[in-house]
Amino acid sequence: MMNIDLEKCIGCGMCISDCFANDIKMIDGKASIRNITCFKCGHCIAVCPVNAVSTDEYNMDDVKEYNKNTFTVESENLLNFIKFRRTIRHFKDKKVEKEKILKIIEAGRFTETASNSQNVSYVVVENKIEELRKLTLESLNKIGKELLETSKNKLYLKYAKMWMGMYNKYISSPKEEDNLFFHAPLLIIVVSESIVNGSLASGSMELLTNSLGLGALFSGFFVKAAESNNEIRKFLGLKESQEIVSCMVIGYPDISFRRTVPRKTSEILFI
Ligand SMILES: Cc1cc2nc3c(=O)[nH]c(=O)nc-3n(C[C@H](O)[C@H](O)[C@H](O)COP(=O)(O)O)c2cc1C
Repeated sequence: MMNIDLEKCIGCGMCISDCFANDIKMIDGKASIRNITCFKCGHCIAVCPVNAVSTDEYNMDDVKEYNKNTFTVESENLLNFIKFRRTIRHFKDKKVEKEKILKIIEAGRFTETASNSQNVSYVVVENKIEELRKLTLESLNKIGKELLETSKNKLYLKYAKMWMGMYNKYISSPKEEDNLFFHAPLLIIVVSESIVNGSLASGSMELLTNSLGLGALFSGFFVKAAESNNEIRKFLGLKESQEIVSCMVIGYPDISFRRTVPRKTSEILFI
């Protein structure tokens, strides 16, 4: 439930004007939350000038007072940070600290979700990466064989051959080249009923990963291998409704880039 401290409430109506669910009314000069259509977006908590709103459903210790110095990022720096981010395929043999893992997940947790559903969850794989790598390569090999028999699409055939090659290399020398997880010490698999919610969380998480001095790679190969593979889904403890949205391969980069890269120009239509 959302609660209003009537002693603190000054009846300014700011919570009412920003309540998208239209769940707050002014009664005798004080805001009153009906808790009927409220979907716990927390705008009333964030906007109240006298900090009169709280909830007993979430941890109120999560709420931080605005501070210009620590809550703002210079836009040119942010854009450069985005441009300089690279997919990392060379990782140091160094574990990622637990507090950094939790911070990356916190970035996902505080990313917006449709209807504030907050239906994104995370599977952290550290100790069982090798087991998962084996299951993934087996699945890719199987998918590759099926594609070779059924598809005429050149791109699919290219991937089919690549996946079967990766599997064969793994079988002949499992400890050598790792073109799947690149010997990274950590995977965070982002899981959701909503691809959009999971993808938005993944984007925030990647930025935070980079800000912590770590690097990441999104493994589309893993997602492909896992999406209809019950053994992998069971390994990850997934419910039927949960989709694997992304697999973040994370670690300390063993490569340094000196500049940004060029890109296609955007196709933009101003209307
Ligand atoms: C959804 C997604 C899936 C990807 N899957 C893989 C993958 O399976 N293996 C890989 O080596 N790189 C993968 N990448 C990395 C892309 O190849 C990379 O982002 C792209 O070449 C641009 O390079 P940059 O990330 O350094 O800008 C993936 C990227 C995204 C966004």
